[in-house]
Amino acid sequence: MKPELQRRVQRYGWDYSSPHYDTGWQHQLWPAQKRLLKKSNIQKGEKVLDISCGTGLITLPIAKTVGEEGEMVAIDLSEGMLEKAAEEAKKNGFSNISFKHMDAEDLDLSDDSFDIAINSLGLMYYPNPDQAIQEMYRVVKPGGRATALVWGRRNACGWAELFPIIDRRVESDVCPLFFQLGTDKTLQKTFAKAGFKDINVWRFDMALHFDSDEQAIIAAFQGGAVALAYRKFDQHTKEEAHAEYIESIQPYSDGAGYDIPGEFVIVSGIKSR
Ligand SMILES: C[S@@+](CC[C@H](N)C(=O)[O-])C[C@H]1O[C@@H](n2cnc3c(N)ncnc32)[C@H](O)[C@@H]1O
Repeated sequence: MKPELQRRVQRYGWDYSSPHYDTGWQHQLWPAQKRLLKKSNIQKGEKVLDISCGTGLITLPIAKTVGEEGEMVAIDLSEGMLEKAAEEAKKNGFSNISFKHMDAEDLDLSDDSFDIAINSLGLMYYPNPDQAIQEMYRVVKPGGRATALVWGRRNACGWAELFPIIDRRVESDVCPLFFQLGTDKTLQKTFAKAGFKDINVWRFDMALHFDSDEQAIIAAFQGGAVALAYRKFDQHTKEEAHAEYIESIQPYSDGAGYDIPGEFVIVSGIKSR
C-alpha cells in the first residue's frame, strides 16, 4: 500500500474507531500500558511527548504523574481520537496537556525538547516506523529517553485472524506490516539504528478478556484499525465476517467470555549526552 494511502486509511479509520475504542480495548490493554508506564519511569516535573495518544488512555495517567510543574504534548493523526482525549482531559481537570494534530513520522516539534518520548501501540500503523523512531530520537533531549509498546508475534496473538478476514473482503491489505515490529529483535534494532543507547527489551504475554461475542466484535471491527474497511461492508458481509472472527477465537472461550492471548514487546533507549 502506498504510504499516503496508508496514512489516509489510518487517519479516517481511527476517526470511526474513536467512539468504540475505549469500549473494546480500555480494560484489555491497561495491564500492558501500565507496564510501559512503569518501564518509562516518568517523574514529577518532566516534559513528556505521547505519540499516537489515541483517546488518552496513557496520556492522562502521565499528566497526573508529571503534575503542574510538568508538561505534556500529546499528538495523533486522527482528529476523532484527539477530540476524545481532549474531552477526557477537560472532564478530569487537566491543564498541563496540549493536544496536537500531527503525523508521528513528521513531528512539528523542536529538537532536544522532551525528557521522554513514549509511543503506546502506535508504531504498527505507520508506513515507515523507522522514520517515526528517528523523530522520537530527534525530539528528546541529550540524556533523555524513549519507550515504545508494540504487539508481539502474529502467532502469539489470538485475535490475529481478524486481518485475513478483512483482507479477503477488500482490495488491499489493511495493516500490511502490523506484526513485523514485534518479531525477533526488529524493534530494538530500529531503536539502535536511530541512535539510542542502553536499549532494553521486555517481551511478555497478557490475556485480553472480552465478556461476550458482542464486546469482542466491537473491539475487533469497530474499535481498531480495520474500522474504515469494515464500515463499507454491507450487512451480510459484516455478519459473515463476525461469524468467521468468532469462530477463530473459539479456542479461547471459557463459555462465559474470552481470554484471548496477546503478546507485547516494550523497548526503551537513551539518547547520548
Ligand atoms: C491502537 S491506538 C493507540 C492509542 C493509545 N496510544 C493507546 O495506547 O491506547 C493507535 C493510534 O495510532 C494513531 N496513528 C495511526 N497512524 C498514525 C500516524 N502516522 N501518526 C500519528 N498517529 C497515528 C491512530 O490514530 C490511533 O489513535
